[in-house]
Amino acid sequence: MAFALSAEHEKELERILSRYPNKMAACIPVLHLCQDANEHWVSDEVIAFVAERLGLSTAHVAGVVTFYHLFNREKPGKHQVWVCRTLSCALRGSESILRHCEKRLGVHVGGTTPDGKVTLRTSECLASCGSAPMMQVDKTYHENLTIEEVDRVLDDLLKDS
Ligand code: FES
Repeated sequence: MAFALSAEHEKELERILSRYPNKMAACIPVLHLCQDANEHWVSDEVIAFVAERLGLSTAHVAGVVTFYHLFNREKPGKHQVWVCRTLSCALRGSESILRHCEKRLGVHVGGTTPDGKVTLRTSECLASCGSAPMMQVDKTYHENLTIEEVDRVLDDLLKDS
């Protein structure tokens, strides 16, 4: 089925396009908008929509989607947890945080809890190196993490109905 944006999202698309010198430059924010409007994943239909609206080839848009970790090619859980694994976070314990998340959630990186609530991922640097180790949950950063803080965040996600 073809993908389409709601009237409200169409307005946001126009607002995004107005901020960039050309349509190609708006590819990433437009993809984020469409991903959010499509249950947090980028289907082939979303790629075709973005390509058509921005005057790009589907191969170009697919290349952008597969290059960046924050675009999902499959429907994720209700909440997404990205544990940063790049140098600053790695030096400050991101590996043990990641292992703890796997244990608490009962899934490996890339997996989704059986109840569909949480998908666990790793990410490259999220530009919060000064507050490493950190993770992003949906659109919120959690910084200077401890195992206790990770437990608090995961408890809240798992309680969410
Ligand atoms: S290395 Fe983790 S935010 Fe930069």
